[in-house]
Amino acid sequence: MATFDINTTDVDVLNVFGAEAKGKTFLITGPSKNGIGAQAAISLASASPSLLILAGRDAAKISPICDEIKQVNPAVRVMIVQLDLASHESVRKVVESVEAITKTVDFLINNAGVMATRSFVLSEDSVESQFAINYLSHFLFTNLLLKKGVVSSSGVILNVGSIGYTMADINFEDINFQNGEKYNGWKGYGQAKSAQLLGTRGLANRLKGKDVAVLIAHPGGNLQHRPYT
Ligand SMILES: NC(=O)c1ccc[n+]([C@@H]2O[C@H](COP(=O)([O-])OP(=O)(O)OC[C@H]3O[C@@H](n4cnc5c(N)ncnc54)[C@H](OP(=O)(O)O)[C@@H]3O)[C@@H](O)[C@H]2O)c1
Repeated sequence: MATFDINTTDVDVLNVFGAEAKGKTFLITGPSKNGIGAQAAISLASASPSLLILAGRDAAKISPICDEIKQVNPAVRVMIVQLDLASHESVRKVVESVEAITKTVDFLINNAGVMATRSFVLSEDSVESQFAINYLSHFLFTNLLLKKGVVSSSGVILNVGSIGYTMADINFEDINFQNGEKYNGWKGYGQAKSAQLLGTRGLANRLKGKDVAVLIAHPGGNLQHRPYT
């Protein structure tokens, strides 16, 4: 079994697992330039997936990624779908768009996120924005894709988490920080990432016995330093 650590590169990972991506369909949220989702998509291109679906809110930030993917591997099909995770309506529409593009998603990478938003902002559905974007909308997105049978029965669901979950538990009584009056951006991030972590475990439990893998990962950083504790 391969061992990966803080010095592991995308090439190292692809050398071990790249063959599993060949011919597969990936759906990645939040693939804007210079972000983790974009780099994942660009790196994956060299492993010859058949289709990369890039789901983000600003096509202008995503089209340069399509160009980079084409440079790496012109044979990979790339589609952009417009997704605003601050809106459940947008999430529902995107699920329809994905269904129109493909019958099967083999790898769903829920990567989009916002961190420590300074101002208190509500989503379209009146939920604190970090909780909405980092957790709740991805929960809705994943469950709709599963319910509609779009996620492959032997697929992988990867949630991009964060060690930042250690900064706050979930305040089930008051997700919205007394409607913003007691708002703290880092606590909002921690709360959202805690919900994402527990939600991932919950989903993994619900899918126990099926062949779908449900994973969560902190992207990089030396966890031994535990920066937020
Ligand atoms: N970078 C780190 O050190 C680090 C550490 C721990 C965890 N993480 C996690 O890694 C993931 C990616 O982070 P990153 O560093 O790559 O961040 P990033 O470069 O800021 O990318 C975040 C992505 O999320 C998208 N996004 C934000 N709000 C959205 C919304 N309402 N609807 C749809 N998409 C939205 C952004 O779109 P726009 O470009 O349009 O804003 C962008 O594409 C996040 O989940 C983050 O919590 C990152």
